[in-house]
Amino acid sequence: LGPRLNGSNVYFVGIMGSGKSAVGDILARRMGTYNFLDTDEIIERATGMTIPEIFKAEGEEGFRTVEAQVLDSVHPYVRCIISTGGGIVIKLENWSKLQTGLVVWLDCEPEVIMRRIEGTDRPLLQTDNPLQKLKDLLAEREDKYSQADIRIKVTEDMDTEHVADLAIREL
Ligand code: S3P
Repeated sequence: LGPRLNGSNVYFVGIMGSGKSAVGDILARRMGTYNFLDTDEIIERATGMTIPEIFKAEGEEGFRTVEAQVLDSVHPYVRCIISTGGGIVIKLENWSKLQTGLVVWLDCEPEVIMRRIEGTDRPLLQTDNPLQKLKDLLAEREDKYSQADIRIKVTEDMDTEHVADLAIREL
């Protein structure tokens, strides 16, 4: 691992279904001295609700508030690989926290994502045309994701191990 990392956290960002949690988990195992955290999982444990339940009860605004609080509480940790929810980049205040570590964008085409997330419950995709919604979300967020320190293009043929290999090479 390169000198860039130096004990700081690694944050995975990117659209839902791009593999942030799976890749982050593999990476933490391989790196040994790093712990894996997932902001969505922390939110679910802290609230005792699932993400879809929070969206239903509190709306997206309510979810974003809890998400920002969770990021605020985890960013002072060290040696963590942290996978974040796809929308964490929306709030400007979150960026100052993400930038205390190295930010890795898993850049994945919406068409590939559609095939990967089939059957999972993503509240923002409860529309007649989930593919179009994913494209819209990506278009809205692309300039934010591109502020990441490292961008990894994830294509259909890559499994999570392969993506983790690429990430390790860059860190
Ligand atoms: C969201 C992505 C989800 C979750 C929530 C909102 C988004 O996380 O935080 O449903 O706004 O893109 P994943 O990216 O882990 O699916």
